[in-house]
Amino acid sequence: MTTQREWRLTPHEKEYRLQQSTAEIPTPGPGQVLVRIRAVSLNYRDLIQIRNSAGRNVAGRIPASDGAGEIVAVGPDVTTWQPGDRVASCFFQSWTAGRFEMRHHQQDLGGTIDGVLADHVLLSAEGVTRFPNYLSFSEAATLPCAALTAWTALQRGGLQAGNTVLVLGTGGVSIFGLQLAKAAGARVIVTSSQDEKLAHARSFGAWETINYRSTPDWEKAVWQLTEKRGVDQILEVGGPGTLEKSLGCVAAGGQIALIGVLTGFGAPSGSLFPLVTKNARMDGIYVGSRDDFHQMNRFLEQHQVKPVIDREFAFDEAPQAYDYLASGNHFGKVVITVT
Ligand SMILES: NC(=O)c1ccc[n+]([C@@H]2O[C@H](COP(=O)([O-])OP(=O)(O)OC[C@H]3O[C@@H](n4cnc5c(N)ncnc54)[C@H](OP(=O)(O)O)[C@@H]3O)[C@@H](O)[C@H]2O)c1
Repeated sequence: MTTQREWRLTPHEKEYRLQQSTAEIPTPGPGQVLVRIRAVSLNYRDLIQIRNSAGRNVAGRIPASDGAGEIVAVGPDVTTWQPGDRVASCFFQSWTAGRFEMRHHQQDLGGTIDGVLADHVLLSAEGVTRFPNYLSFSEAATLPCAALTAWTALQRGGLQAGNTVLVLGTGGVSIFGLQLAKAAGARVIVTSSQDEKLAHARSFGAWETINYRSTPDWEKAVWQLTEKRGVDQILEVGGPGTLEKSLGCVAAGGQIALIGVLTGFGAPSGSLFPLVTKNARMDGIYVGSRDDFHQMNRFLEQHQVKPVIDREFAFDEAPQAYDYLASGNHFGKVVITVT
């Protein structure tokens, strides 16, 4: 096979739509590996791109940051990888270790550079990682963004056994937050708009659950559940519409990991002063480095954490997979298989 299938984002009115096309299978140059993609997972970010909610020009771009597959060819100078190695993509191709630098914004898969929704993709030899053997390609494809973001947030906040962690909703980041924090010995509170999803979260070890629709003052419920102490860490995926409540239920000395924009990109309502009175902190989190990914993989293996995949779609059904993610009916991750 010398040609391959790929999906690309094409402008459509004020948004984008997915268009499938064929292209030559590329050849890896210096510093690159060619990966035969077996599975791709979607993130809310992929909805932001296709809806053009962030006003970013992604015309012509292959979308999606999260893929897993096997290396089929390596560039002339690449000695670290061989054909047959099973790898997952790193969201930021250039962020291998250390503190984040602004230059990495030019190297985000499916954003500034082509992503992974294709039969084969060229990736940086430094922008892929091995994943634990017990994981399938579909499971590994859920790790690069959602799992690593939850991991980085929890690590940055100094997660310890016995801590209480709050995750908002039951999407990809939050369910990884539940699984990782639970595996580390924390008590996890999960919120959701649906009682069935809360029951599901309890089957994955949630300590307490709250329906944020029937309990709009959920921060008060969290406060009561924690005997007026609050939670040590919050994976804040809601953004401006939930931040004030998160500030209301974070514990003294606790951490709010600012991650998401599910309620929009606007300014938060309310005062940030609770951070001061509680001696608490807020950390901006943007996925994580390849080194963070390695550390997370070791933790996943040690605790045999299995990613939660709600539903898998075939490659040709990518638009349906996007629609399903947009419906919000999923629990955990949505995957597109590429075979
Ligand atoms: N900074 C980063 O590095 C980073 C990385 C990954 C994701 N993110 C951001 O984090 C957010 C979550 O991403 P994701 O991929 O995990 O999303 P996702 O899988 O699409 O999760 C969507 C779920 O979030 C819940 N939700 C929606 N509105 C909510 C609200 N007002 N309060 C509480 N929960 C709400 C719903 O859960 P229920 O159905 O249970 O109510 C919904 O099903 C997005 O804004 C994304 O852009 C940021």
